[in-house]
Amino acid sequence: VMGATDGAAPREGWSSRTAFILAAIGSAVGLGNLWRFPAEAGENGGGAFVLFYILCVALIGLPVLLSETLIGRHGQASAPESVRRVALESGASKHWSVLAGMGVTAAFLILSFYCVVGGWVLYYIGVFVSDLFQTGLTGGAFQGRPASDIESLLPSLFGNGGLMVGLDFAFLAVTLYFVARGVSGGIEWVATWLMPAFFALLILITIYGFATGAASETVAYLFTFDFSKLTPEVMLAAVGQAFFSLSLGVAGMITYGAYAGKDVNLGKTSGIIASADTAVALIAGLCIFPIVFAAGLSVSAGPGLMFQSLPVAFQNMPFGSLIGVAFFVMVAFAALTSSVALLEVPTAWTMERFAIGRMPSAIIVAIGAAILGALSALSFNEMADFRPLGFIPTFAEANFFDALDGVTAKLFMPIGAILTCVFVGWIADTRLIDSENGLDGALHKLWRFLVRFLCPLALIAILVVGLSS
Ligand code: PHE
Repeated sequence: VMGATDGAAPREGWSSRTAFILAAIGSAVGLGNLWRFPAEAGENGGGAFVLFYILCVALIGLPVLLSETLIGRHGQASAPESVRRVALESGASKHWSVLAGMGVTAAFLILSFYCVVGGWVLYYIGVFVSDLFQTGLTGGAFQGRPASDIESLLPSLFGNGGLMVGLDFAFLAVTLYFVARGVSGGIEWVATWLMPAFFALLILITIYGFATGAASETVAYLFTFDFSKLTPEVMLAAVGQAFFSLSLGVAGMITYGAYAGKDVNLGKTSGIIASADTAVALIAGLCIFPIVFAAGLSVSAGPGLMFQSLPVAFQNMPFGSLIGVAFFVMVAFAALTSSVALLEVPTAWTMERFAIGRMPSAIIVAIGAAILGALSALSFNEMADFRPLGFIPTFAEANFFDALDGVTAKLFMPIGAILTCVFVGWIADTRLIDSENGLDGALHKLWRFLVRFLCPLALIAILVVGLSS
């Protein structure tokens, strides 16, 4: 076990550097890459969004990612306690831990609705598996059924509150199982088995989509930069997406960094994590768009792109139902390694704060997430008219699910990230920071500059525009 702390019981840790990298990539790669990124790119005009997204990852996401892993690795504790330790060693107020306290809260809230969407993924696995039995191996999916039938699968799922809650609980239960088994025994296990399987499926489906679908149209769409499309809204959508996709602003990377040993070069590792996450987002675009274009469907379907357009597109593809099963299994794997990270953040804190074991902590957090998750699931049907934040103009129209999504994305994540930048860039002892970051020379200077100036300013812009829109 790496990184035992002063006198306390030996802390859990990753069993190797590779395990840390895979788990962190597992946390980053998820519904954000597969569901949100293509949807955002499609809604925000393709190439210009994609290019600006890559810039955001490199100049804003990556510096914050390094800042978070660095705090965790130095602190070797739950996220708030790690921040507190770095603060005290730097002669600063221990109250800086509030930045991670917000993160823990945000991770818990995101977990609750992330598992609801994970439940939709489970539903589509079921739909395609049963279709596979009916239409056989080689044919397209849903033979003989009209496209509108396939598109209405999602609204009919949304109409079924009981099923939505059940699927949410199922996804959460699987997440709980792995988190309860511990860092090296559970979290690391899912990452080391599911991430390679995920990559293999992603590459296979992308090759298939490229070979049979509209490849050149896709490449032109994703990599032609029409700068007139780069409006302030598009830019903000790109920064927000980069943050969500890299799992930043929710103390997740602080928590995972705290299980890393001193032999890990955090600068290099952060670069690997950010590159892998971005590569997966781009490949997800290259996977989904050829299929959608070939079927003559719209790329700007937003959230419906993955759950409605894609299933329709599978209809006429040879092996369509098989591809459907493979595709949604792949999405489930990616989502699970992210939900595991989301559950681990509050679980690690609960264990430490109340000095109780991993199993009871994980169960308590999961029960809380199940309650909020059920309310989110029901906000598509039984509770559709409930406006929990009706008194706040920005969130006045939001149902329970949208309110949690909005509050975490527009408030918690940007504020948490701004405070992280200020803390690492201005407050923490520079010698401590320098000894942890694994960077030297020009790269180090560049990173300092970005964390101190560019990142907080860009994040303040997101916060202001996000709240006023
Ligand atoms: N990055 C994950 C995704 O893209 C979501 C996530 C956010 C996971 C924050 C953990 C922490 O799906």
